[in-house]
Amino acid sequence: ALPAKVTIWEVGARDGLQNEKSVVDVQTKAEFVRRLLAAGLPIVEATSFVHPKWVPQLADAAELMTMLDNPDLPVLVPNERGLDRALELGLKHIAIFGSATETFANKNLNRSLDEQFAMFEPTVVRAREAGMDVRAYVSMCFGDPWEGAVPIDQVVSVGKRLFDLGASQLSLGDTIGVGTAGHVKQLITAFGEAGLGTDALAVHFHDTYGQALANAYAALEVGITTFDASAGGLGGCPYAESATGNLATEDLVWMLNGLGIEHGVDLDSLVATSVWMAEKLGRESPSRVVTALA
Ligand code: HMG
Ligand code: MG
Repeated sequence: ALPAKVTIWEVGARDGLQNEKSVVDVQTKAEFVRRLLAAGLPIVEATSFVHPKWVPQLADAAELMTMLDNPDLPVLVPNERGLDRALELGLKHIAIFGSATETFANKNLNRSLDEQFAMFEPTVVRAREAGMDVRAYVSMCFGDPWEGAVPIDQVVSVGKRLFDLGASQLSLGDTIGVGTAGHVKQLITAFGEAGLGTDALAVHFHDTYGQALANAYAALEVGITTFDASAGGLGGCPYAESATGNLATEDLVWMLNGLGIEHGVDLDSLVATSVWMAEKLGRESPSRVVTALA
């Protein structure tokens, strides 16, 4: 049976806006986050405390979090410098983000696959000591634009290592959207066999090849209950070629509504928010559900 209730982890303000060509001002970002919360999204990842030269779109992270004044909103943190910035603001939820491949660890973190752990370990230790909750992302779980298909045992090994640093959840990222439904089930099953069950996992799909919703359904079928999605399908990763938008939250919500699965999100307010954001960005939302309902 499918789960009766799921949690949507909204990443549009972070994964979406980190990849936009146009600069979104901090007031608009704050309003975006507030509108997402008002639409009933239980978790709204707000920004990243990364190097401002690497992701200039999110250079206003501290200003945004001060404006929002909500320590429960999760933020990305790659290292101790990022953690210090989050601690100064009294934030309580961070996410580290590792790579399952050597090449992407290099491009995204300026570290080798092994070196990334040396960067994350003291970050997570100190975050946990400060009472923070830590989520871990693992990127390139299905394919990598430079290395091709990524072996399942490699993903499980990196993912477990990241989780075991002290994370409460591991989000499996299909950064470039090449995954398909059978592969999704195989990967989740392999994590289960390695001792990391569906209660500790989330899935994070990008829709580059139009597979994100099918992949989400496959994940539902094997018991996943946390789904990352991005309002209006905003998104990508500036350091991964061809990583287009995330699974659109509206597309996910439409499917969940049809399945009678509880999620707490008001679809009309969410669509209105994505339409408003699309106007600010000067381009239409790629989400089919937003297009149909707008
Ligand atoms: P680095 O250049 O190796 O950093 O970058 P470093 O440790 O050598 O430090 C160099 C200088 O940067 C130092 O300053 C540090 O203080 C400063 P200096 O002493 O020279 O004056 N610095 C910082 N400043 C502010 N905030 C910081 C910070 N860290 C160092 N946090 C680093 C290494 C990890 C920082 C860099 O590579 C980086 O910022 N990468 C982030 C890339 C990124 O944000 N990518 C997108 C998110 S991942 C994603 O989207 C995938 C996901 O959605 C899942 C999926 O789809 O698969 C999560
Ligand atoms: Mg992503």
